[in-house]
Amino acid sequence: MTGKTLTILGIETSCDETAAAVVRGTSPGPGEILSSIVASQAGAHAPYGGVVPEIASRAHLEILDAVIERAIAGAGIAPGEIDGIAATAGPGLIGGVMVGLTTAKGVALGLGKPLIAVNHLMGHALTARLTQGTEFPFLLLLVSGGHCQLLGVGGLDDFRLYGSTIDDAAGEAFDKVAKLLGLAYPGGPEVEKLAAQGNPRAYDLPRPLVTGHNIRKTADFSFSGLKTAVRLLTERQTVKTEDVCASFQAAVIDILTDRTRTAMAMFERDFLREQRPGKVGAAAVLPTQKNDASGFPSGRATQQKRLVVAGGVAANRAIGQALARLCGAEAFALAVPPPVLCTDNAAMIAWAGLERLAAGGGDALGVSPRARWPLSA
Ligand code: KG4
Ligand code: ZN
Repeated sequence: MTGKTLTILGIETSCDETAAAVVRGTSPGPGEILSSIVASQAGAHAPYGGVVPEIASRAHLEILDAVIERAIAGAGIAPGEIDGIAATAGPGLIGGVMVGLTTAKGVALGLGKPLIAVNHLMGHALTARLTQGTEFPFLLLLVSGGHCQLLGVGGLDDFRLYGSTIDDAAGEAFDKVAKLLGLAYPGGPEVEKLAAQGNPRAYDLPRPLVTGHNIRKTADFSFSGLKTAVRLLTERQTVKTEDVCASFQAAVIDILTDRTRTAMAMFERDFLREQRPGKVGAAAVLPTQKNDASGFPSGRATQQKRLVVAGGVAANRAIGQALARLCGAEAFALAVPPPVLCTDNAAMIAWAGLERLAAGGGDALGVSPRARWPLSA
């Protein structure tokens, strides 16, 4: 179905957002979001400072049907115009994934349309294609509440893992620090707000695995030591919350930019070698190169150095600005989807389903939900 315009219903229930969306478009994008409904359960989980799986699956079950109906009505289409139903089939909290996938199977059966079982991480990974038609290959920094990874993305079936977290995910670190400081859940936006009013140099916090501290050049992440340092700091002395937030966010920024710089070299080795035989490591884009309207450097030989940032933490503006500076220095073009498409939503699931269906993909109704489902083999 390559080249054909498809209309896809997407369903997302892998964490604490119950979401449905209708997206129309042609691979590789950009696509059109006809509707996108995201019903957050954050209020139900707030007293616990994190997502409670049993509460999440019950809440999905209660409202998913209504959310789907609203998405279809909001798109202004007849159900018969839907070409396929895409649902998150993992990774995530298994109860919620089962609710979404089972519902999608029912809709697919009822409409007589194909089911696409989508990897939630692929949804995040392909969002920049939905919003601006970003071409393969690109380097992906995926930073959410459950995941923190750097991947080279060469195509729908070509994900190369350069680094991942050895303990907490970046968003999880934001949430845990927020909880320590008595801030609301989810913690990321709260910490960002207060950090803007604080001094990032007020407290000296560790940067685990930062290259300068570690002989091994790694693209792996570690955040639990940083979180523990914040806990010890708050136990030891009276702190100014804004300064803790600013110092913590500064440490996260250093860790993310350091690891992304390392992964940029890995990406260049994997994807740019054929273009520049014998010149591995050299910049592929001239610093003076003008960007075209899409924000990417124009000119054929330069089009392969792209960084896409995805996942809830990509909504953080200070992190976005730091990554923009890194991209400027390393001659990478940067694509960050708008904040509503960085956090969990069903438009990204619909889009990933659209791309897979366009490439001939689709799944049998017997497909199983998966709590764990890495992008790279
Ligand atoms: O992608 P997402 O919506 O859900 C997962 O798949 O995990 O990401 C949610 C995570 C939460 O940990 C939240 O605190 C974090 O993204 N987050 C932020 C910001 N907005 C959301 N972290 C830092 N700064 C933000 N502005
Ligand atoms: Zn997510």
